[in-house]
Amino acid sequence: MLYLVTGGAGFIGSHLVRALLVQGQDVRVLDNFSTGKEENLSEVAEKVEVIRGDVRNLEDVDRALDGVSHVFHQAAVGSVPRSIADPFDTQTANVNGTLNLLWKAREAGVRRVVIAGSSSVYGDTPGMPRVETLLPSPLSPYALSKLSQELFGRIFTKTFGLETVTLRYFNIFGPRQDPQSEYAAVIPRFVRAMLKGEALTVYGTGEQSRDFTFIDNVVQANLLAMGTMRGVGEAFNIGCGSSFSILDLIDNLSGILNVRPEVKHLPPRAGDPMASQADISKARDFLGYSPKVYFREGLERTARWFEDRYRSSGGTGL
Ligand SMILES: NC(=O)c1ccc[n+]([C@@H]2O[C@H](COP(=O)([O-])OP(=O)(O)OC[C@H]3O[C@@H](n4cnc5c(N)ncnc54)[C@H](O)[C@@H]3O)[C@@H](O)[C@H]2O)c1
Repeated sequence: MLYLVTGGAGFIGSHLVRALLVQGQDVRVLDNFSTGKEENLSEVAEKVEVIRGDVRNLEDVDRALDGVSHVFHQAAVGSVPRSIADPFDTQTANVNGTLNLLWKAREAGVRRVVIAGSSSVYGDTPGMPRVETLLPSPLSPYALSKLSQELFGRIFTKTFGLETVTLRYFNIFGPRQDPQSEYAAVIPRFVRAMLKGEALTVYGTGEQSRDFTFIDNVVQANLLAMGTMRGVGEAFNIGCGSSFSILDLIDNLSGILNVRPEVKHLPPRAGDPMASQADISKARDFLGYSPKVYFREGLERTARWFEDRYRSSGGTGL
């Protein structure tokens, strides 16, 4: 068996690569290193075959799938604001890239593709917590691209006979998540700013809430989805089933890092829903998924990881 992790040099992909190696599996990565980094795989580099290539390119996809039995598809252009700034890049990487991958996976005889979906597909549809039976209502080109990915997954299972499962991730965080880019997610961005003694930027009141989910839970969900007999061709919420506001997040990080940051407010960002919380009953029932690391413990582990990195680099490593 050979596992391909697309986007394996990114945050979530690099955790999946490690989990597969721990299981003794053979692992290949396909990544164009647009947001992924070599250092994310540095201590496992000798055990992984890395193909520098692009899911938008059929030849790269073909090469990456040679001999592969299972695929974890993480490669994508992430971030709602990035997709509003440049919808074309999001569309081609996420939608065309996924179509390329599924098309070639079927040809190559791959047994199953597990697709990284997103809670953003719910957008502003009424109903909280989010249940998979709700009508999707995307608010951004990114959310639409993630919905297209999962619907292509469904079509490939029902019509082309390729097994797929989509996991709708709810705000994943943990070590190795990018803290720096213009489009960095809120947790690494805040931890970095607090370690550097900088002010935090909050869009809107800070009362908007999210089901922040530690990376270990997502790795667990992916491994279960690769083996499940039930729910093939379907989508599953992967979160913790709880919800914390941005102000709760600042309170918790202040306690963990012992820093009282200055907070600056900017207007709310377009395309960002006010609240998001997963109903994880379907993933529990069908996959046997059960989150093991909750918000506070996940935050402590993440903050310590960034703090160690910051200290060991003499204050330059973030
Ligand atoms: N982090 C979250 O909270 C979250 C939430 C919902 C969904 N997701 C999804 O999870 C997946 C992984 O996200 P992440 O947070 O690890 O982001 P990330 O940016 O760290 O990882 C994405 C990886 O894909 C690679 N990539 C991008 N475009 C590519 C292309 N055209 N060809 C090949 N490689 C390409 C990047 O270089 C990077 O290594 C994505 O599909 C994302 O949409 C993430």
